[in-house]
Amino acid sequence: MLEPATELTGSLKVPGDKSMSHRSIMFGAIAQGVTEVSGFLEGEDSLHTLEAFQAMGVRIERGGDGAVTLYGQGVSALIPPNDPIYLGNSGTGMRLLTGLLAGMNIPAVLTGDVSLNGRPMRRITDPLSRMGADVGTAESGTPPLHIRQTKQLCGIEYTCPMASAQVKSAVLLAGLHANGVTTVHETAVTRDHTERMLRGFGVEVVVDGLSASIRGGQQLNATSLTVPGDISSAAFFLVGASMTPGSNLLLTGVGMNPTRTGVIDILTLMGANIQITNQRVTGGEPVADLQVIGAQLQGIHVPEKLVSLAIDEFPALFVAAASAQGETIVTGAEELRVKETDRIQVMADGLRALGANITDTPDGAHIIGKRLLGGTADSCGDHRTAMSFAMASLISDGPITVLDCDNVNTSFPGFSQIAGAAGLHIVETNAG
Ligand code: S3P
Repeated sequence: MLEPATELTGSLKVPGDKSMSHRSIMFGAIAQGVTEVSGFLEGEDSLHTLEAFQAMGVRIERGGDGAVTLYGQGVSALIPPNDPIYLGNSGTGMRLLTGLLAGMNIPAVLTGDVSLNGRPMRRITDPLSRMGADVGTAESGTPPLHIRQTKQLCGIEYTCPMASAQVKSAVLLAGLHANGVTTVHETAVTRDHTERMLRGFGVEVVVDGLSASIRGGQQLNATSLTVPGDISSAAFFLVGASMTPGSNLLLTGVGMNPTRTGVIDILTLMGANIQITNQRVTGGEPVADLQVIGAQLQGIHVPEKLVSLAIDEFPALFVAAASAQGETIVTGAEELRVKETDRIQVMADGLRALGANITDTPDGAHIIGKRLLGGTADSCGDHRTAMSFAMASLISDGPITVLDCDNVNTSFPGFSQIAGAAGLHIVETNAG
């Protein structure tokens, strides 16, 4: 339950980047040598990936506070898991692991929670089967996934029909152990953490515009890497502070990979005041501190070329739009319908229940900003919709109850404490 709040102030650091945390485990586990990771996200999603590799015989130690040591012995040391691998809520965990295991010819069964078990997987099994993999899905094209042994995979050239870093990564990771070269062509820019981090492990990945290629048979060499703060977690605070005049908030150590910064561009187009300071590079990724001064936001038509660069930030951006003067139009964002929930539907239903003027469309929404009244919003078990509805308490006249919030721990353990210290009035209850 959240009482209305007025502004966000102070300084905070969000937990480590989820996308990079998954990859740091996958790559460290199959590398040769000892990989030290700091800033690892100790959230449920990335911990499931860590446990998956422990179940495959890799020694991995957690030192607390985001420190992880992986004792990699190369690919051949991995042993097929005895039991199905449970990946919780995580599409990244499942899709990337499938590509990696299929390429390495390690038989396994991958499963997840109710949300993950309802998500589309043919987007990866189709290209993987073209490479020679045998990965079965349920009849509906959803998990559980059954990775069966085949002969060695062959590299392919694949054009990704949707903007998806998970599909791109699954194919490239299968290509890492396939014969020949594997190339993925994309139609829009998506996050490039796989390409960057593989290079950090000594793998040659050739990127040419919207195409990425990898030669099979390359070995990963252990490295040390620092995972920066997750811009997708920072996004809730960027939105919360940007839309409330009087806010003055510093977010330190935020990952600023240019394939992830769409949320800053979109908020800036809406009139937000976000200063990027202390820019540096850590572990091959740009990092910065972000100073946010509250303002009255204006509605815009979100440029479609920014959609894939802010895909996880739309639940929060819908709240920014609900506060903005005039109309905000989101188009070209149909991928939001196949995330942890149908995020267009869940945000439209929830914001409407709080008094917002929002019309959902097949690929986005039309939102006319106004003060909210308060009420009950159902996150439907989606971490990002839950945290977005929490931020709506900054533009609401009445209290807001957010239902089904447990999954906030998948990406942002400690959210309530951090948000409370910055100015939200959150009371957690066990009612959901
Ligand atoms: C991710 C890619 C995106 C994003 C997800 C993390 C990744 O998914 O939504 O939260 O780590 O590669 P899609 O590739 O399905 O767009």
